[in-house]
Amino acid sequence: MKLTYLGHSGVSLRTAGHEVLIDPFLTDNPVAVHEPDAFDPSHVILTHAHGDHLGDTVAIAKRSGAQVVSSAEIVGYLGRSGVSGRAFNIGGGGDFPFGRVTFTPAWHSNSFPDGTYGGMPMGVIIESEGVTIYHAGDTALFSDMALIARRGIDVALLPIGDTFTMGPDDALEAVRLIAPKVVIPIHYDTFEAIEQDAAAFARAVAALDGITCHPLAPGEALDL
Ligand code: NI
Ligand code: MN
Repeated sequence: MKLTYLGHSGVSLRTAGHEVLIDPFLTDNPVAVHEPDAFDPSHVILTHAHGDHLGDTVAIAKRSGAQVVSSAEIVGYLGRSGVSGRAFNIGGGGDFPFGRVTFTPAWHSNSFPDGTYGGMPMGVIIESEGVTIYHAGDTALFSDMALIARRGIDVALLPIGDTFTMGPDDALEAVRLIAPKVVIPIHYDTFEAIEQDAAAFARAVAALDGITCHPLAPGEALDL
């Protein structure tokens, strides 16, 4: 599987037969290097409805026919724009052609850019091709990350930006709770309010036993 970082919280996962996008925020993203037309996904997973996560979802889904995988509130809202979806709520999951998706809690807020309530914000666990990936969405540190760890997380995508999510110190504590093999920091350096020293965070993670940290530049990919 190839994981490509799209900047901010955006990720592309390319498996043997599918491309899955998570939180594809590209058009108004000052650090993004991809155009929305660069992707032809079968599924778009959304952690929540804030504009910096919803991003280009509607345009991408309409062009590609991708199914949106998210909360019932988000799937219902996007359905009124003619986008197909599959609805979940926290703790629920389902099987897809590319693997299994399970939604986790996230401590955050959740509304659409027009103010419509978007349901509870979520994180997501994706199990595909023998790899278990946890994308935390936008969240504070919370102790139940220790329960998420029991699933055996290979790759954890964790926000470090501070201001709107946990910052580097709490993200480091999250790494201790989740104990993944690989950490990829997200949700930083997109805007001035969330500028962080990712290299310093990576050094702090590397000091923990058996965990590596890969800060990725937008457009950079990792083979899993
Ligand atoms: Ni948010
Ligand atoms: Mn955000």
